[in-house]
Amino acid sequence: MTSGAYRWSWGVALALGVGCGCGADDDDGAPPADAGVDSGDEADGAVPDAGWQPPPPFPADFLWGAATAPVQIEGGLTASDWWQWEQTGHVSRCETTADGPDSWNRWAEDLDAAEAMGLNAYRLGIDWSRLYPTREDWDQDTPDAAAVARYHEMLASMHARGIEPMVTLQHFSLPIWLSDPCDLAGHPGWLDPAIADLFAEWARRAATEFGDEVDLWITINEPLVYALGASFQDMQPPGARYSGVAEPELAFGDVIATTKAMIYAHAAAYDAIHDVDGTALVSIATHNRSFEPAHPGNPQEAEGAAALQYGLNLLFLNAVTAGDLDLNLDRDTADEGEGQGIPELADRLDFIGLNYYSHTLVTVIEGFPLPGFPLFEPFDTPLPKTDLSWDVFPEGFRIVLEELRPYDLPVYITENGIADSGDVMRSTFLVDHLDVLARAIAAGLDVRGYFHWSLIDNFEWVSGFCPRFGLYRVDPATGDRVETEGARTYASIIAAGAVTRALHDRFRTYGAPTRCASETCATPAAECPE
Ligand code: BGC
Repeated sequence: MTSGAYRWSWGVALALGVGCGCGADDDDGAPPADAGVDSGDEADGAVPDAGWQPPPPFPADFLWGAATAPVQIEGGLTASDWWQWEQTGHVSRCETTADGPDSWNRWAEDLDAAEAMGLNAYRLGIDWSRLYPTREDWDQDTPDAAAVARYHEMLASMHARGIEPMVTLQHFSLPIWLSDPCDLAGHPGWLDPAIADLFAEWARRAATEFGDEVDLWITINEPLVYALGASFQDMQPPGARYSGVAEPELAFGDVIATTKAMIYAHAAAYDAIHDVDGTALVSIATHNRSFEPAHPGNPQEAEGAAALQYGLNLLFLNAVTAGDLDLNLDRDTADEGEGQGIPELADRLDFIGLNYYSHTLVTVIEGFPLPGFPLFEPFDTPLPKTDLSWDVFPEGFRIVLEELRPYDLPVYITENGIADSGDVMRSTFLVDHLDVLARAIAAGLDVRGYFHWSLIDNFEWVSGFCPRFGLYRVDPATGDRVETEGARTYASIIAAGAVTRALHDRFRTYGAPTRCASETCATPAAECPE
């Protein structure tokens, strides 16, 4: 195990929505010189940018989408481990999914929003605990009939509107009967030795039921982000068995065990879906970041950045494409428990689902038992910041896209978005990131679709409702879906099939973020029984 492996956590702290309220005194490190973001000196409005050449248009059959996840929008998922998690005090300000956009009942309004923007694709989740709320339901294979009917209704409506579904089978949540924050030993979720078989069976049943309506499947969303969030950071149910700070070796062991379980579960689910659905295309959604040393030229930081890039971005992809399993991240698959070309893992990816948000500056924290473990240390950089203090860094999008080229697989951007409650950054974010994407396609990368995160404002995990990622604002009082300027900009890009000069010139600057800090939950709704 290399020390660099522990540096994973920095990126993931950001990925999970931890607001840092970045202080300016944290660091003297500069971001990479080619940061690629407009300095914002110009006045608002159309400022001709003579030095900019428009990228070629997107392919005519490109999928233009947006993405959501069941826990984040549906409401009422009381048999899900996330419900238990939020009820027992793990969410900022004690916020609960019960107060969310209620998409389980208002889904047609969501699809109205998608249609209004001209989307021809939508990534949504089908929730395991919704269909099988109890172990008995699961064992007897008696899914909730009303829930099955509701999902069919949504999918039929999408097809009627010319919107192609992409379905996620696991987006950070599991049924409580598998993953219980109040009984971690009894129901340890992804650390349950039976999980790969159970997950493959879930995939088989979902594909059997919905395969006629769905061709694009995501088995697992952001496996590494989940593994670190659950087993190291204690930010995901069922929670960490060991403290990442006090017992990092043990906690990291669980991260690896979870990752391994997810690799095998994905491969088995891939086979199960293909068994029952001949036209299925199956992948994961991997959260990839660009990693740079916080202080260019610092060799320890450079080593940490390279280790993170390998572990977070490539480990899972290497396992389910080449069958190479390198669980101690030493770039050698010959160690015990590892392997090269493992037949039951290899060739289990029909495309790559890529989630991109930002980059990570890697540092080394002296005195921490594991060197180079920058858990929450923020850096002040001159780059524009989102409401969660993440850097806006379109150049990183180019870097992670290029990193996928050797896999020689089609790519769908399964998530890309920004916390922007003021609606003062999303338009520029879209223009900048889609500019990068169009150029990557023109340079030969086979990217077939883009799903913006997110269609509507939703429950941002431990950060609750403060971060607003929606193209459509959800009015907290009425639940009404309200179009943002970002939505109009996205619609314009879709209508043009391109990032046009007019859009580029109009959206060249980022407005100021509305900082979104986390607060502890002082009075949880429930406590775990003694
Ligand atoms: C997750 C989403 C999340 C988004 C913004 C991704 O890591 O898949 O569920 O809301 O990032 O943090």
